[in-house]
Amino acid sequence: MLWLLLQVWISCLWMGRSEVVTSFASCPQFFYQNTPPNNTLLPQSPAWICQYYNKSYYYATLYNITGRIPVYSAYIYQPGTGNRSQTWMVEPQLMGPTYPMEMLTESTLTTYYNVTLQQISQNQAVNSDYTNLTGLNRGHLNPNGHHNTNDSRMATFTLTNIVPQNITLNGGAWNDYEQKTMKNKTQNCINKTYVITGAVPGNRSVSNGRVNVPSHIWSSACCRTNTTMKAWAAIALNNQNRVTLLNLGQLEANLTQLYGKGNVSLFHKDCPRK
Ligand SMILES: *[C@@H]1O[C@H](CO)[C@@H](O)[C@H](O)[C@H]1NC(C)=O
Ligand SMILES: *[C@@H]1O[C@H](CO)[C@@H](O)[C@H](O)[C@H]1NC(C)=O
Ligand SMILES: *[C@@H]1O[C@H](CO)[C@@H](O)[C@H](O)[C@H]1NC(C)=O
Ligand SMILES: *[C@@H]1O[C@H](CO)[C@@H](O)[C@H](O)[C@H]1NC(C)=O
Ligand SMILES: *[C@@H]1O[C@H](CO)[C@@H](O)[C@H](O)[C@H]1NC(C)=O
Ligand SMILES: *[C@@H]1O[C@H](CO)[C@@H](O)[C@H](O)[C@H]1NC(C)=O
Ligand SMILES: *[C@@H]1O[C@H](CO)[C@@H](O)[C@H](O)[C@H]1NC(C)=O
Ligand SMILES: *[C@@H]1O[C@H](CO)[C@@H](O)[C@H](O)[C@H]1NC(C)=O
Ligand SMILES: *[C@@H]1O[C@H](CO)[C@@H](O)[C@H](O)[C@H]1NC(C)=O
Ligand SMILES: *[C@@H]1O[C@H](CO)[C@@H](O)[C@H](O)[C@H]1NC(C)=O
Ligand SMILES: *[C@@H]1O[C@H](CO)[C@@H](O)[C@H](O)[C@H]1NC(C)=O
Ligand SMILES: *[C@@H]1O[C@H](CO)[C@@H](O)[C@H](O)[C@H]1NC(C)=O
Repeated sequence: MLWLLLQVWISCLWMGRSEVVTSFASCPQFFYQNTPPNNTLLPQSPAWICQYYNKSYYYATLYNITGRIPVYSAYIYQPGTGNRSQTWMVEPQLMGPTYPMEMLTESTLTTYYNVTLQQISQNQAVNSDYTNLTGLNRGHLNPNGHHNTNDSRMATFTLTNIVPQNITLNGGAWNDYEQKTMKNKTQNCINKTYVITGAVPGNRSVSNGRVNVPSHIWSSACCRTNTTMKAWAAIALNNQNRVTLLNLGQLEANLTQLYGKGNVSLFHKDCPRK
């Protein structure tokens, strides 16, 4: 009995801390067949974030600490309606392993964890990076509209899931892709639809060079239908209001060129490339 209590106590202590991780070991369930993209999308300073909010994991993000934007977020599509959060959160774990693994607001961190805004902003984007942009606003990679509970929607409002996105694209063609195309494409999906949405780093930045402005936004999805596996993809230049639909193989070939670090593989081999 004592031994059990001790174990519970230790695991409670452990849960409050973030681990220094080099994989998505705590959240493989957000990738089809537990298979994340291969390493050709890894940035020089990566952070593997299992997005944790109100005691649950909601999705996974590969974060580029140098560009202070995500490379991609991976999640399961469960569209729904509900409220849009007015507050944004950050990832304490990006300050180091002694900080919580749970996403929190900047003010909670500065008030209760004795850290300065400058400490928070060292390895990630903060609210002030996004307050003075022209022609760009906060573009969710994993959008709140693809989730159907308060907490899962809330969990998308963390700046590690956000890139500076062309305002017109964000509210226009990309929004149409998220709302309409996804709904249409998933009509014959049974079980779960797995999504990976990412951003190709661009050669422009905002907030005094702190935050990269991606050149492209892309998305891909894979699901099972009654008769077969199905996959599809989309890409958009981040300075136009147009989304190009393509198959998974075409997107991977496109990203292989754009990232230039070898053959990109986004999904498990069972997801059809064409
Ligand atoms: C956190 O989750 C619990 C149940 O797991 C729920 O009752 C509560 O409303 C949630 N809190 C917030 C802030 O959403
Ligand atoms: C990470 O960000 C840096 C700086 O913006 C950029 O040069 C690099 O290509 C990015 N890497 C990836 C994989 O996105
Ligand atoms: C949205 O927020 C309002 C009040 O802020 C609340 O009455 C309503 O239930 C919320 N809707 C959902 C779907 O949570
Ligand atoms: C808060 O942080 C500062 C600077 O890191 C340190 O000097 C101080 O002792 C800390 N205070 C508490 C109460 O931990
Ligand atoms: C906001 O951006 C403008 C240029 O777009 C710049 O002149 C101004 O200094 C910026 N203000 C702040 C508070 O960063
Ligand atoms: C969702 O959040 C809103 C506003 O915070 C709250 O009014 C509502 O009760 C919540 N709904 C659920 C199902 O927790
Ligand atoms: C939905 O997809 C089908 C093909 O799968 C296509 O023929 C149809 O035009 C699409 N509808 C909309 C509204 O995009
Ligand atoms: C899949 O097949 C099952 C059983 O044949 C059927 O009940 C279900 O409606 C089908 N789903 C779709 C999306 O076609
Ligand atoms: C749905 O998923 C569950 C768990 O992943 C699996 O056991 C089941 O076979 C799947 N059903 C179909 C029809 O693929
Ligand atoms: C955003 O897209 C619009 C529509 O294509 C374009 O006119 C505008 O120049 C773009 N702005 C930026 C900052 O990329
Ligand atoms: C990738 O897609 C973008 C947007 O459609 C396009 O501009 C670009 O030419 C494509 N690149 C390759 C290598 O296919
Ligand atoms: C990534 O996956 C592709 C396709 O499976 C493969 O050709 C390539 O060698 C892989 N690269 C790495 C670094 O794993």
